[in-house]
Amino acid sequence: MENELIYEGKAKKLFSTSEPNVLRIEYKDAATALNGKRKESFAGKGVLNNQISSKLFRHLQSVGINSHFIQQISENEQLVQEISMIPLEVVVRNVMAGSLAKKLGCEEGIEIPEAIVEFYYKDDALDDPFINEDHIHFLQIVSQAELTVLKDLARKINQVLIPFFDQIGITLVDFKLEFGRGKDGEILLADEISPDTCRLWDKKTKEKLDKDVFRRNLGDLLPVYQEVAKRLEGV
Ligand code: TMP
Repeated sequence: MENELIYEGKAKKLFSTSEPNVLRIEYKDAATALNGKRKESFAGKGVLNNQISSKLFRHLQSVGINSHFIQQISENEQLVQEISMIPLEVVVRNVMAGSLAKKLGCEEGIEIPEAIVEFYYKDDALDDPFINEDHIHFLQIVSQAELTVLKDLARKINQVLIPFFDQIGITLVDFKLEFGRGKDGEILLADEISPDTCRLWDKKTKEKLDKDVFRRNLGDLLPVYQEVAKRLEGV
């Protein structure tokens, strides 16, 4: 059936389309923190995240990173391939911040010489716990070979995105990726890459240009997302 709501997440809705194996994603205006326990709506946020994520996925595709992304079809919608999602959040860190700074007792802002890759188990009831490779194998989430692919892809995507953001005066502090398996079992990048899922700091001023503005009550979210979208328009 066409236009059937298949899934509603915190920031997006997923609909079926007339084409088999093609889904439509609608970006919502909601912003959540604390695993959905705090929620607010910002009119226009969905449009900005769709624009930003579409741009980043297009760029990643242009350098050979395969993903679920097909095309942006409206201000707040895109078409994607239907894939089977892997319940992992893959976090890549270039600069100390957030939960890692807290966990290790380190100051935010310290450069991490070789990017740190972490895994979180996507499970709302468990609050998405931090897990290691043995846990991933025990839970049989992915095979050893797939885990290697995930780590390699995460590092490669990082190497592509660091200079992409750098050219618009932004430091890519850290970010979260999600992956799935396509029809033939191939690993594909999925979900979104946006100021909701990245820490982006202005290179010169260190101003936060991401969802930390909302998480930490630092001011208006919308102008900050608009700034990221505007800078990306130029590249
Ligand atoms: P953290 O420091 O809170 O662990 O977050 C690391 C990065 O991952 C940060 O850029 C925000 C992103 N992230 C998500 O996109 N979704 C999440 O559920 C979490 C916990 C982090």
